[in-house]
Order: sequence, then C-alpha cells, then structure tokens
Amino acid sequence: MIQSMEKGAAYIGGKWVRPPGTRLYEVVNPATGERLAEVIHCGPSEVDAAVEAAHSAFQESGWRTLDPSKRERILRKIGDLIESNAKELARIESLQNGKTVREALRGDIPPAWDIFHYYAGWITKYYGHTVPVSGPYLAETRIEPIGVVGAIVPWNFPLLLASWKLAPALAMGNTVVLKPAEQTPLTALYLAELLEEAGIPPGVVNIIPGFGDTGALLARHMKVRKITFTGSREVAREILRASADSNLKRVSLELGGKSPNIVFSDADLDRVSDVAFGEIFGHKGEVCSASSRLLAESSISGELIRRLKDKAERMVLGDPQHPKTQMGSLISRTQLERVERYVSSGLKEGAALVCGGKRHLDNGCDRGFFFRPTIFARVKPHMKIAQEEIFGPVLSVMDFDSEETLIETANSTVYGLVSMIWTRDIGRAFRIARRLESGTVWINAAGPFDSAMPFGGVKESGWGREMGMEALKEYTQVKSIWIGLEY
Ligand code: NAI
Ligand code: MG
Repeated sequence: MIQSMEKGAAYIGGKWVRPPGTRLYEVVNPATGERLAEVIHCGPSEVDAAVEAAHSAFQESGWRTLDPSKRERILRKIGDLIESNAKELARIESLQNGKTVREALRGDIPPAWDIFHYYAGWITKYYGHTVPVSGPYLAETRIEPIGVVGAIVPWNFPLLLASWKLAPALAMGNTVVLKPAEQTPLTALYLAELLEEAGIPPGVVNIIPGFGDTGALLARHMKVRKITFTGSREVAREILRASADSNLKRVSLELGGKSPNIVFSDADLDRVSDVAFGEIFGHKGEVCSASSRLLAESSISGELIRRLKDKAERMVLGDPQHPKTQMGSLISRTQLERVERYVSSGLKEGAALVCGGKRHLDNGCDRGFFFRPTIFARVKPHMKIAQEEIFGPVLSVMDFDSEETLIETANSTVYGLVSMIWTRDIGRAFRIARRLESGTVWINAAGPFDSAMPFGGVKESGWGREMGMEALKEYTQVKSIWIGLEY
C-alpha cells in the first residue's frame, strides 16, 4: 500500500491533513469484508479549508496564467504517471470496488490516463474569436476559467470519473476540490501523489474524502463556482437546491440511465449476444451506461435469451483479484439489497425469471456481495424493472414487433443516456437513432468510448457533457471585450 492510503488523510493545499480527533471511517473490500484503510470523513472545517485553498490557488498560484505550453506539459505528465502506475491503480480499484482487476485494467485506468493526454492538447487550441460587430470596435471573446470547481463522484469508476472532471477543469485553468465516494476514496488519494509529482501547484487540486454530508457542504459553499456531479438523481436534486440556496453556482450532472439495446432479427446474433452480455454484466452492471433493457424483435428474442442464459450460467464469480474471475462483488450491502428488491419486484409484477435472481455464496463469496447474473423475460414497459435504474447485474428483456412500439418503449423511461441498435438495415438504424431520446446512440458498435467524443444524457440522465470539445464549455465562461477604435 502506498503512503497516501496509509495516511487516510485529506489532501488540502498540498498537504496531508488529518488532525487528531477528526472523524474516521473504514474503507472495506466489499468482496471480503476486509478493512483496507481508515480514512478521514471531512467535515465543515476541512471542506472550508479545501475550498479556501482552491480559492487562493485560483487567485494566486498562477495556474490559470501559467504558460499554456507548461500547463500542457503538466497534464501530459499526469497522464503518463497514471499509465506507469496502471497495475497498482487497477489493483486498488478492484480492492475497494469489488470489480475484477482485469476489468479495472481495461475499463478504468487506460481511459483515465488518456483523458489527461487529450485535454493537455486542447490547452493551446481552445480560444476566443475576433467578432465582426457593427460600429468602430474591435470585439473579442476570451475563454476564461470559472474558478473553484467542486467535483463529486461515485464509486463505480472512481479514478476514471474523477479524471473526466479533473482533466478538462485543470486544462482550462480552474482549481478543484474533489469529493470521492465514501466507498472508494483510495485511488483519488493515490492520484494526489501523482498530481504532485507531475507539478500541480499546492491548492490547485484538493481531495476531501467523506460521505454525502461532505458533498453537501461543498455544494453549498459560497466560494465554489461550479459543481460537476456523477451519481443519483436524488442527490442531483439536492445539489440543484444547494446551488439555488447559495450562490447559484453552475451545475453539470451525469445521472445514469435505463439504456435500451435494440436488436432486429437481421442482426448477427453471435456478436450481439456477446455484446449484450458484456454491456449488462461487465463491472457487475454498476455502470451508468449499462444496457439494462434488451429490446428484441419477437422472432429472435427466444434465441437471444437462450444464448444469454447459457453465458450467464457459465459466468465465473469469485475473487476479483483472480485472473479467471469474470464478475466480482457488488459495492455494498446497500446495493445488494437494492438489487434484491428489484428482483422481488420483477417477480411480483409477473416478469419471467430466466436465470440468476440470487446471491452467489460459493467458495467464500458469502463474505461479499456477489449476485448471480440475472435475466428477466416477458418484461412489460410499465414494470419497475423496465423503468428504474437497478445498477446491478439484472437484464430486462422486452419483445417488439413494430418500429412504432419499439420507439415508444425505448423512450418510455425518465432516462436518456445511451442506446444501442443492431440491424443490417442502415436506413432503419438512422431513422430510429434520430427518434431516440438519448445522449448517445451506438449503431452496430459495442459501446465505444473515446476522450474526443462527448458523453452525457438527455431528460433525467443529466445536463451537460463530459469529454470531447463539449466538456470544455462546462469548465469555462466567455468574456466579451470591446475596444473602441476611434477613441
Ligand atoms: P449517490 O448519488 O448517493 O452518491 C454519489 C456521490 O454523491 C457520492 O460521492 C456521495 O457521497 C455524494 N453525495 C451523497 N449525498 C450527497 C449530497 N446530499 N450532496 C452532495 N453529494 C452527495 O449514489 P449512491 O447512493 O451511491 O447510489 C444510489 C444509486 O444512484 C445507484 O443505485 C445508481 O442507480 C445511481 N448511481 C448512478 C451513478 C452513475 O454513474 N450515474 C453512479 C452511482 C450511483
Ligand atoms: Mg446515496
């Protein structure tokens, strides 16, 4: 274990802070119940100190006025350091989250280093315009940072989601206070050491472990100018209220989904069943973009379900650190109980349980929160398991016969994060893509992500975009400067 984890301290103004007498809590490995670290639960004085540090760093550290090429070099270096620490970061991610090391090594860490490299490149390439206005003026727009950004992230991709926020915020000259999820603060604390090594000045990034109350303090703070949040809709509402009740700080939100995977009978079922399986059972289904609804054309839905069931029954659950393991432990008892409630609700509402539906308890798994990959068939759009985000390894399969009912069903939830379409008929695919209420549509593509491609939701999946050029707008404001030419 590295130093920062042993310290379990907050990282404020370039120093590790854990005053005697502060509240501490235990971070545990959800797969085993084993204690990983004892970490500070930041309260009002730490939150205030972190925001003050970020505020003075914004005013005085020279971060926002640093030569763009120097800022670029530092961001590149952060990316490089994440890359060279990939194995250790993946191991810790697996220990604190319960996902497999293999998943973390592929799905969490590489995109985290890539996002720093990507935004490093933008620093010298994102700038204002000279605008052709009426009258004797030179009119220019200047792109400026917002100030102190509060980043509140969840536990499902701890380092990656923090990086999606940190990289563009820092690239554009902001300073940041990061509040990791209570379950998974350890890679964020590890990152603090890498940031320091890369040359981030003290106070530019501050990390305050804690619970919801810690996040709430940040969201209400008068010197925080923006909150960027990933998590639940309930907390998003709290954050909006906090903004309204404090300084009207800007807010961007990524709130998960109930994403449809739409499969027509002309699709390649070998390929589609592989993807459909990975998209709901990868990372235990605790993924905002998980394809948790499979909308299959009636003529092939039986066959698709048979293939998925076969894979699900063969899926290897167990020690997340073991290279052969395919699915690890859910994040917590709370999340396990949430999944169990949804399974009961599916049964009660008349869906047909195809497989799973229960905990996996073999070979020591009873110490963790392992849940068998679960498939429900004959799901109807009004059912809870068709409407609500379960955030676990539960797939709801619904059949369709016409394009109209398909679109109606696909759009029938409050969410709109991603959708998948599988068909050889490209005209049909585009026709449907245009009508889906969804921030992203993947056509015949297995859920690709790229730092250059914006990602985010419509409807209650959230506001704003992460990644790509679009996210730069989330961390900047435009100043219009007029110069009279005939003065
Ligand atoms: P949550 O939304 O409560 O937690 C996310 C983050 O917000 C954590 O860092 C937490 O400490 C913080 N937080 C909690 N209350 C807060 C408040 N009042 N003010 C400011 N920050 C606060 O998510 P939770 O309870 O862990 O999971 C519940 C459900 O939320 C999941 O089952 C899933 O449906 C959804 N979720 C969606 C995610 C996504 O990727 N969009 C990620 C995590 C959860
Ligand atoms: Mg919560």
